Amino acid sequence: MADALPTCLLDGALVSTSAARISPLDRGFLFGDGIYEVVPCYGGRPFRLQAHFDRFQAGLDALEIRNPYSLARWTELIQGLIAANGGGDMGIYFEVTRGAGRGRDFLPEPGTIPTVFGFCWRLAPLRPEQLERGIAAATLEDIRWLRCDIKSVALLGPVLLRMEAHRRGADEAILIREGRLAEGSSSAVFVVSNGHIATPPASHERLPSITRLVVGDVLVALGLPLQVREIDRDELRTADEIWTASSTREVAPVTRLDGSIFRTGKPGPIWRRVFDEYQALKKREAQ
Ligand code: PDD
Repeated sequence: MADALPTCLLDGALVSTSAARISPLDRGFLFGDGIYEVVPCYGGRPFRLQAHFDRFQAGLDALEIRNPYSLARWTELIQGLIAANGGGDMGIYFEVTRGAGRGRDFLPEPGTIPTVFGFCWRLAPLRPEQLERGIAAATLEDIRWLRCDIKSVALLGPVLLRMEAHRRGADEAILIREGRLAEGSSSAVFVVSNGHIATPPASHERLPSITRLVVGDVLVALGLPLQVREIDRDELRTADEIWTASSTREVAPVTRLDGSIFRTGKPGPIWRRVFDEYQALKKREAQ
């Protein structure tokens, strides 16, 4: 885990991360009542920020939380956060909760002022030997709620799933709901089977991943078709390749599944092409 960098964002001001304080009556703390985003930043520039803002706004709308800032103000604040922490490659987190009420009531009080918090950490690219090793995944039953499309700060399901995956020696949990692939506990999932690349469609069971969109653009650039369709547990097990996709890990090859070597135990050839083009796309967009 990478440590939080020294300066964070709290209610519109840049302050020391170790000294920042919020009210214990904050509904984010009491109820997980808030929305968050994680945006990768390369060379001091946020990557695909607009898409992250669009998803963030959709989440706030779903929870009927007022977005305290305009897009221009958010952009300014995030750029301030990046600069205050020295720029470079980082992960940026920001959240808005419904704010602190006068007590604890499930029904929010009208007029509660949203709380804004943001921080960042150094994003280290996976080393070549880590990429060569790939990642270990464990398939687990999806125990999360029925609105996984909302990027809510209430993350107890994914926390328990990651703890279970860790106990099984895996880096990521791949979640199955009613026999079908949902997504990773904190990633989207792609499979290659019989030479076809596929990923499940958007639904209430899955977060609309921004990295999944980036991988879609990469596949277009490579002239490789993408099937968007449901994938069942058996297809996952017999696939030629499995990749996870997320803002913090980009696109990663699964080389061990449920405690066994998966396929050759090496990253697959299509993953490699996608990975290389992904790096090229990042460079192009940074210019
Ligand atoms: N999580 N699905 C879930 C459940 C996730 O939590 C994430 C990302 C993704 C991938 O989304 P994106 O490509 O937009 O990062 C899919 C982030 C990284 C997190 O919570 O830290």
